Amino acid sequence: MQIFNTKNSLHRYLQGVRGTQKTTALVPTMGALHEGHLSLIRQARQSADVTICSIFVNPTQFNDPKDLEKYPRPLENDIALLESVSCDVLFLPSVEEMYPDPNENWHLDLGPLETIWEGEHRPGHFQGVTQIVYKLFTAVQPNFACFGQKDFQQVMVVQKMIDVKQLPVKLIVCPIIRNPQGLALSSRNMRLSPEGKEKALIISKALQHVKAHFRSVSVDELTQTGSNIILSEKGVTPEYFAICETRTLQQVNELHADKEYVALVVAWVEGVRLLDNMLLNE
Ligand code: PAJ
Repeated sequence: MQIFNTKNSLHRYLQGVRGTQKTTALVPTMGALHEGHLSLIRQARQSADVTICSIFVNPTQFNDPKDLEKYPRPLENDIALLESVSCDVLFLPSVEEMYPDPNENWHLDLGPLETIWEGEHRPGHFQGVTQIVYKLFTAVQPNFACFGQKDFQQVMVVQKMIDVKQLPVKLIVCPIIRNPQGLALSSRNMRLSPEGKEKALIISKALQHVKAHFRSVSVDELTQTGSNIILSEKGVTPEYFAICETRTLQQVNELHADKEYVALVVAWVEGVRLLDNMLLNE
């Protein structure tokens, strides 16, 4: 695997790749890689000739400085994992490389996505995400970019950015990878104790329950039940639990036969904010 720390060195390498008509797929990450990330790399390898993974803990998308500070950075292990799935290129820039002007302005009109769910609970987060993803797309100019359904709203935000900026990138959305007990894999899980991981299973159990009873009880009742299931586990606190239409992410109180729905959840365990979701129509 080739490792580049600067946009210039990456650019020179990619010029060579494009000169041979090869296609490229980018997998943007913040490192602390796990099977979820690796599934994206595998998908990228299937979709394009050359796979580029970026690892960059992006300061502009953290609204809590402590969260940024505590973000795990096990670089050697990450490199070994990327090599184990035959990733071609790792782009590993510094903060100065990505943000040469610390006062750079960025604002993208994301419409309602900015003010609901993660937009509401993490103000500015999606501006930071689009800011860095735009920089990465500009640096790599990939044909494809792989993102996880784990961050459901992030996928919608990035697609919105692609539409607004008219970028020639095709998004590939990959399914959520869970541990055998059902916990959605996340770099943040590393901060949970074994008991915390056990407790966090209630989140996917609540989602499974909602999916199993979808359309057989009212949406309001189902939403309440989902939330109550999570509350029933001592030490787990839901921040939100909602059933939304997938296209708009607006919460619904009645269902239509021709629409698709997703249950979105955020819950706290041992001071760690865990995010999960489940498509209900499948
Ligand atoms: P990060 O949290 O490292 O996630 C990188 C990618 O891996 C995202 O597309 C995310 O949805 C996906 N992912 C994480 N856990 C997953 C799982 N259990 N199953 C499947 N995919 C999973 O998301 C970010 O980084 C950042 O916001 C980023 C897009 C890199 C911008 O900084």
